[in-house]
Amino acid sequence: MTQAPRPAGARGLEADLLLRGARLLTLAPLKEERPRVGPAAGDVGVLADGWVAARDGAIVATGHGNTYRLIELVEGVIDRDVLGRVVMPGFVDPHTHLCYAGERWEEFATRRSGADYLAVLAAGGGIHATVRATREASDEMLLALLQRRIGDAAELGTTTIEVKSGYGLEPAEELRQLRLIAGARAVAPIDVAVTYLAAHALPAAYGDARGRFIKETIAALGTIVGEKLAEAVDAFVEKGVFDVDDVRPLFNAAKKAGLAVTMHADQLNDVGAAGFAARAHARSADHVAHASAEGLRALARSETPAVLLPGSAFFVGYAPPDARRFIAARVPVALATDHNPGTSPVEGMPTAIALGVTLCGLTPHEAIVGATINAAHALGRGGRTGALVAGRRADLLILDTDDERELAYRMGAPLVGEVYASGKRVA
Ligand code: NIG
Ligand code: FE
Repeated sequence: MTQAPRPAGARGLEADLLLRGARLLTLAPLKEERPRVGPAAGDVGVLADGWVAARDGAIVATGHGNTYRLIELVEGVIDRDVLGRVVMPGFVDPHTHLCYAGERWEEFATRRSGADYLAVLAAGGGIHATVRATREASDEMLLALLQRRIGDAAELGTTTIEVKSGYGLEPAEELRQLRLIAGARAVAPIDVAVTYLAAHALPAAYGDARGRFIKETIAALGTIVGEKLAEAVDAFVEKGVFDVDDVRPLFNAAKKAGLAVTMHADQLNDVGAAGFAARAHARSADHVAHASAEGLRALARSETPAVLLPGSAFFVGYAPPDARRFIAARVPVALATDHNPGTSPVEGMPTAIALGVTLCGLTPHEAIVGATINAAHALGRGGRTGALVAGRRADLLILDTDDERELAYRMGAPLVGEVYASGKRVA
């Protein structure tokens, strides 16, 4: 018996996971893999009647129609006709502060009645309040909180999450947090990218000695690299917090030690941080609500993703970043929750997507690019996840809708039906 010719894409492939009959969003690159800008900033790569197959946690092929029939399904395969629902890459949340104890109800209320975020911080509240509560919490308590928050994010479709330290401030306490994050990472159902937020606020004990404090953060890098506690170093570059000159030696030392750098840049004021991040070859520049036109040009030149955090603009009440400026300037745009107890108690990427559209002016498709492939680039994972491409991690979502734009539209609706991280169903 002669066999019908088989399309090269499916020949000889085996799968232990097959999702078919989907409105498939591949987010696949047109040519080489790069952060998406210009017309590609809103290209989600739709395949009607699409399928995606995976084996041992990695995608092996995508296609459409019934070409999946040529794939050999191994014993125990999950083989699902999703009946026209959307299948897309898992969300990547490239900016969170999940390692904390305590909430900030009082501050939230006073800020809504006019108290200024930076004034609260300068008076020893804000970040310092969470530092006190986090230091007082036991290791067991913090680990349990971290695990619960990672699990909550996964349930809402996040398959890669960045987690920062930053509520320890003094390096010894930051190291405790990084070790706890490492413990949570080791058992997490999703990929966790850890960041040492070295310069979040100056501890009161240092008075005005920013230089001395920064030297101590640099001294901690050896342990961080030795124990593989973080991939990147972050700093809050803002009026009255740290300026670019304070942070420069830290970033130079971090890069020398082989770590990536990233920044809370121009969140509340333009302090030249976006341009500095671009020139420092930062992995991303985050917040950037007040970045200058020069800062945007620099980010575009260096292809540095701007991670927009609409949740914090929403909860703090400052003008949100205008995404149209970034898109027009050809800056890659990513989205994140910025989950933290002070500025952004946002849960899950669907809310970040909805706010990115309603507050920042992204189109729903630009927001999806920002929550997947561009967010993967913001974590240095642009070749690993964020798109349905053979060889990448099988990080997949089945949405309970046949139109992905609903993510931006029906805010808060439970649209994430099933989550697969590295090919495994996340409970
Ligand atoms: O991303 N602005 C600096 N860091 C956090 C907030 C930290 C806090 O207020 O606890 C942010 O907005
Ligand atoms: Fe943040």
